[in-house]
Amino acid sequence: MTRDLTGILDAVLAGIVVLDRDGRLELANTAAARMLEVSPASAHGRQVETLLGPAHALTRVAREVLASGRSATENECPVERRFEPDLAVDISGAPLFDAAGQLDGAVVFLRDATLQRDLQRLVVDREHLSAFGHIAAGVAHEVKNPLGGIRGAAEILGSRAADAKTADTAELIVREVDRIATLLDDLMVFARGDAVQRTPTNIHRVLDEVLELVAHEALGREIAVEREFDPSIPEVLLDRDRITQVFLNLIRNAVQAMDGHGTLTIRTRMRLDRRMTGHAGDAGPTLRVEIHDSGPGIPSELLGQLATPFFTTRSDGTGLGLAVSRHWIAAHDGLLQLTSPEDGGACAQVDLPLRTAS
Ligand SMILES: Nc1ncnc2c1ncn2[C@@H]1O[C@H](COP(=O)(O)OP(=O)(O)O)[C@@H](O)[C@H]1O
Ligand SMILES: [Mg+2]
Repeated sequence: MTRDLTGILDAVLAGIVVLDRDGRLELANTAAARMLEVSPASAHGRQVETLLGPAHALTRVAREVLASGRSATENECPVERRFEPDLAVDISGAPLFDAAGQLDGAVVFLRDATLQRDLQRLVVDREHLSAFGHIAAGVAHEVKNPLGGIRGAAEILGSRAADAKTADTAELIVREVDRIATLLDDLMVFARGDAVQRTPTNIHRVLDEVLELVAHEALGREIAVEREFDPSIPEVLLDRDRITQVFLNLIRNAVQAMDGHGTLTIRTRMRLDRRMTGHAGDAGPTLRVEIHDSGPGIPSELLGQLATPFFTTRSDGTGLGLAVSRHWIAAHDGLLQLTSPEDGGACAQVDLPLRTAS
């Protein structure tokens, strides 16, 4: 064996850290240095506590190994980083013994588990949504039927009311029933089954129709609409009704967020070489639609909650728009992402597989 050991360790993708029996760093390969954001040269000889802090998962694992003389592991430990995105790492440590069989140090392996964790989250997300869909659809059916009767009865009461107060009360019932009916309509989207029926669809025509619909609702608001459409986008295999529903929800949200005035920008483009995150192995071309508004944007602490069914910050919201949208985009093997871009406002990004009929 004449090869340089350090060179071999640096070629390994896993992070490898070797500590002496007092917990001082003897060696960290390139991968470990990157994951932990330490420089191997300046870290050499320093205690693992001073280097990473006593609460760091690697410190815990190393100390356990050095105290017990046995292996220890911790999975999916969060590692905060300053210069690159945070990581989740699987950490496993094993004891090292000298020639006399005395505990002489520890070797710790670090494996980046971030991708695996993200994929798992995506799967759990989808499972939640599909269970939710079944319950929601069932409840919607049960409630929708008697609702028509209640509304009709309230209307009759209202028309026969002897005084203004009774008439107002009847009107209130009708209004509230209508609100419930809207909510149920959103829920019923799930009731029609999960299957999508794809036909060649002109995405720009869909967007134009939605914009026209929303324009009626937003009458009186000063909202400029900018279309940045890529005219070379071909007809794509999509379920036209579902996709119309998706963009109706997203564009409505954008208009509502702007509260009277602002700029709505709709952008379309093709991404021929990009891999869709969340679909390992699916490296096909995608169609991206971006809905950008100049509203207040989305506070970062809310970003993670937005697609949770019934989460809303609006007094007359149902909190179903994004959940429903995410559901149908996922059924198309696509991805919905909400961001707060640096130039302000909010942006909904929809990636759909660019499948064509031919
Ligand atoms: N373009 C946007 N700008 C700011 N906040 C948004 C935007 N789109 C969605 N949101 C936030 O996400 C929440 C959930 O949206 P949604 O699921 O459509 O339900 P709803 O519109 O009924 O509230 C909204 O209440 C709002 O807080
Ligand atoms: Mg909405």
